[in-house]
Amino acid sequence: MVEVDDARRARAEVFREYFALQLSFAEEVSRLSGRPLGEAVRDFTNLHRRLGLGDASTSSPHPEWRDYSGPMEALPDAQARLDWTMRVLAAAPDEPPQPNRVRFGCFSYDPPEAGVVRIHFNNHDSIDGVGPLARSKVPARRSELARMFAHLRRTAPEAEVVVGSSWLYNLEAYRRLFPTDYTASATEAGEVRLSGTSSWGQFLTHSGAVHPERRAAFMTALKRLDPQAPWRAFPLRPLRVTAPVERFYTHFSLG
Ligand SMILES: CC(C)(COP(=O)(O)OP(=O)(O)OC[C@H]1O[C@@H](n2cnc3c(N)ncnc32)[C@H](O)[C@@H]1OP(=O)(O)O)[C@@H](O)C(=O)NCCC(=O)NCCS
Repeated sequence: MVEVDDARRARAEVFREYFALQLSFAEEVSRLSGRPLGEAVRDFTNLHRRLGLGDASTSSPHPEWRDYSGPMEALPDAQARLDWTMRVLAAAPDEPPQPNRVRFGCFSYDPPEAGVVRIHFNNHDSIDGVGPLARSKVPARRSELARMFAHLRRTAPEAEVVVGSSWLYNLEAYRRLFPTDYTASATEAGEVRLSGTSSWGQFLTHSGAVHPERRAAFMTALKRLDPQAPWRAFPLRPLRVTAPVERFYTHFSLG
């Protein structure tokens, strides 16, 4: 826990609607499946990660998770649970960066594992009020990718294949940044993990607000949620894409 000042509280509050949406979803999964609410919040929202407690889908829940989820489960209604969640988020330490992840602006990659390089996107360019995927920012995004792949080429000769997995590959505004055969390789995952941003990110606008129409579509889909396949309620599914790394070196004229 860190000391909460007004600035910290305000930073967390920007995302109130985003977490309200996630909690509504977990409450519905819990109600339909009979699983305890704390478990549903841990597995079907990204709160475990946003609280700086790591990825609960690949390791056991952090011991501090109970400090949040225990009191949350005891609260009488959704509003009280959301207020508690926002208080805990404001007091949580900053999320630690992923170990070894290399960042160039909005893009980053994990160093190759068995030749496979995973790439990621996060919004680090909207302070001017213009979203990072706007047409006017295509040159900036392409330049970040070019610098990132130049770095990869220089430092990781063992890299063979690039892999991405995100809802973003549904968007032409994102696909246009990459070689076409990479984005054309898209396939849908059979089962979708919901403890990160690869699905939840689709509700956020670049200012951190929740997009009203996407929220409305999601809330309608929640009424017929299948607790065995809850990811089907999301308007967009994460797509997995892949291409040989050489393809990127050529595309960004690094070869
Ligand atoms: C990516 C992100 C910045 C997009 O927010 P935004 O406010 O729509 O941002 P931009 O203005 O940059 O995006 C503009 C483009 O994306 C399109 N777009 C964005 N989200 C969309 C969605 N859910 N459905 C359809 N189109 C969408 C817009 O229509 C627009 O396309 P156009 O220029 O061709 O009209 C925001 O969702 C975000 O920060 N998400 C969290 C990060 C994330 O999801 N990372 C992936 C982790 S795997």
